[in-house]
Amino acid sequence: MKVTVTGCAGFIGSNLVDKLLSNKHQVIGIDNFSTGKMEFISNAINNDKFTLIQDDIKNIDSIKDSMLNTDIIFHMAANADVRFGLNHPSKDLNENTLNTFKLLEVMRNLSIKNIIFASTGSVYGENQEIPTSENCPFPVQTSLYGASKLAAEAFIAAYCEGFEINAAVCRFVSLMGPRYTHGHVVDFVQSLKNDPKNLTILGDGNQYKSYFHVNDCMNAMILLAKQIGKNIKGFYPINLGTEDGITVKESAEIICKTLGYEPKFNFTGGKQGWIGDNPTIQLDISKAKSIGWEPKYSIKQSIEDTAKWVYSNL
Ligand SMILES: NC(=O)c1ccc[n+]([C@@H]2O[C@H](COP(=O)([O-])OP(=O)(O)OC[C@H]3O[C@@H](n4cnc5c(N)ncnc54)[C@H](O)[C@@H]3O)[C@@H](O)[C@H]2O)c1
Repeated sequence: MKVTVTGCAGFIGSNLVDKLLSNKHQVIGIDNFSTGKMEFISNAINNDKFTLIQDDIKNIDSIKDSMLNTDIIFHMAANADVRFGLNHPSKDLNENTLNTFKLLEVMRNLSIKNIIFASTGSVYGENQEIPTSENCPFPVQTSLYGASKLAAEAFIAAYCEGFEINAAVCRFVSLMGPRYTHGHVVDFVQSLKNDPKNLTILGDGNQYKSYFHVNDCMNAMILLAKQIGKNIKGFYPINLGTEDGITVKESAEIICKTLGYEPKFNFTGGKQGWIGDNPTIQLDISKAKSIGWEPKYSIKQSIEDTAKWVYSNL
């Protein structure tokens, strides 16, 4: 199969490239290296089946010929940082919504029929339904990131309807594992390296989150790739996460125990870590389970794995 992976040098994208190459697929990778790292694709670069296009999706028209005959696009490129959206309000719109629209236009022009899109559980905002299913009523959006991804989903849905494309729209909870570069584990580990005696935790520490491991995510991507265009047709939103959850304070305790730190925790207070932070995230993953996927890693294992990787690599 020939696939295109946008954001191929990022945390999720680079793990995906390695997985796809190990399954002998031909992979076209696109990345502008805004947050991606060349070292993450160092193995891929030496594989004959991998082609790297170092460019920005906003220039997709000039590079689209390399995508001819693509069976599936995995669209992972985005501004993935939820927290700093308010510092640059147009960034999420440009990177997450408009670039997705540009990619959809390329799909239409090149008759590419399948897309697997990295959406997010953030689109559910502060939902009343916990665990949150794909069919829940949509609440008011609480972050520019969530809004931009939901808008991208809306364009994808309309293209599915209008141009008969198939889209597996993956609403991920936060991912963990090797090549993790942004999120609370990085913040905590870097803070502990600078000051082993104190750890500042945003909010009251009771924010309840669900995390899942990037290896589990990769198994889901491969499963979706096998089913898209067959039993997955049209617009297909799907939650990916774990059935358990953990508070931010408990996560901090696991990180400290894993790395041998015993700091004093200082809480900034309030039920949110920052404006737009969803204090409770727990997705209903029964739809994913019904198509044969199930996470293998516990949240504790995912956090331990990530803490060790971040400590040694960042
Ligand atoms: N990491 C998570 O916990 C998480 C959770 C939910 C959803 N997602 C989504 O999954 C996807 C991947 O996230 P990630 O954590 O790997 O982020 P990341 O920042 O590590 O990866 C994004 C990659 O896309 C590239 N990129 C960004 N804008 C680009 C552009 N305009 N043109 C070309 N390349 C561009 C970056 O250089 C980077 O390599 C994103 O769409 C993100 O919104 C991630």
